[in-house]
Amino acid sequence: MGWEEVDEGWGRLARDWAYLMEPSFWPEFDQVLRDAGVGEGTRYLDVCCGSGLAAQMAGRRGAVVHGLDASQRLTAIAAARSPDGDIRYGDMHDLPWEDESFDVVTSFRGIWGANDQAVVEAARVLKPGGTLAVTFLPMDEPAPFDQWWVSIAKVSDHEKEVGQILGSIGAEGRVEEMCEAAGLVPGERQWIRFEFEGGPEVEDFVRASLSAGPTYTAVQERGQDDVEDALRRDFTPLWDEALGLRIGVVVEYLVATKPT
Ligand SMILES: C[S@@+](CC[C@H](N)C(=O)[O-])C[C@H]1O[C@@H](n2cnc3c(N)ncnc32)[C@H](O)[C@@H]1O
Repeated sequence: MGWEEVDEGWGRLARDWAYLMEPSFWPEFDQVLRDAGVGEGTRYLDVCCGSGLAAQMAGRRGAVVHGLDASQRLTAIAAARSPDGDIRYGDMHDLPWEDESFDVVTSFRGIWGANDQAVVEAARVLKPGGTLAVTFLPMDEPAPFDQWWVSIAKVSDHEKEVGQILGSIGAEGRVEEMCEAAGLVPGERQWIRFEFEGGPEVEDFVRASLSAGPTYTAVQERGQDDVEDALRRDFTPLWDEALGLRIGVVVEYLVATKPT
C-alpha cells in the first residue's frame, strides 16, 4: 500500500480517532515529551502525528510545533489543534523539511519495523545534538491492551501478517539497529505503563477502535459485525460497573541522539 492510500484507512473516521481514541494515549505523550526535553522554544517535529494531540501538548510546553501525517483528514484536525504550527500531509519516508531543522523529533507508534527509511529521514532533519524519540508496543511485556491487536488479527489474516512485520521494531536490538544505521546513538529502552481509558461502556471503545487503520482492513476482510463482536467479546471482561473500561498498557520507547 502506498502512503497516498493511508488516509483511506486512517482518515475515514478521523473525528473518532481524534476525540475518542488519541486522548487516551496522553500519559505516553506526556512522558516522552518530558524525557526528550521538549520545552520553551524547542524546534519540534512529530512524525505520523495523527490528529496532533502530542504536537498540541508540545506547543503548550512552548515548543515550535511541526507535524506530518499521511492522512489528510487527520492532519486537518492536527492543524486545528495547533493553529500556529506547521502541520503537513506527507510521507514519513520523505520529510519535506531541510537538513538540521529540529531539536527534537518524535514518533508515537508511527514508525514500525518496516520503516528504516523514516528513521534515516528523522536523523537527517535533526540538528547535531538533537533527539529522536520513538515509541512502539513491546514484544516481551504483554499487557491487556495487546489484546486489541490479537482481536483484530483474529479476524484479519492480513493484519496478522503485517502486524508481525511492523511489530518487529520491538524485537531485541531492532530499533537500536535502525537508529545506528541512521547515524544516531541509541540510549537505553524505557517503558511507560498507564491505564488506557477505554470509555464508560465497552461500546465506546468498540466505536473508537473502528477508527484505527488496521481495523479498516479487518472490516474489509470480515465485515464490521465480526470485528465488533471480537472486540466486544475480548474487552467486556475488563469492564467494571464503577470504573468503566480501563485497560493496562505498556508502551516501550527509545531516545536516540545525533552526534555533534
Ligand atoms: C498508530 S497511529 C499513531 C497516530 C498518533 N501518533 C497517535 O499517537 O495518536 C499511526 C499513524 O501513522 C500514519 N501513517 C501511516 N503511514 C504513514 C506514512 N507513510 N507517512 C506518514 N504517516 C503515516 C497514520 O495516518 C496514523 O496517523
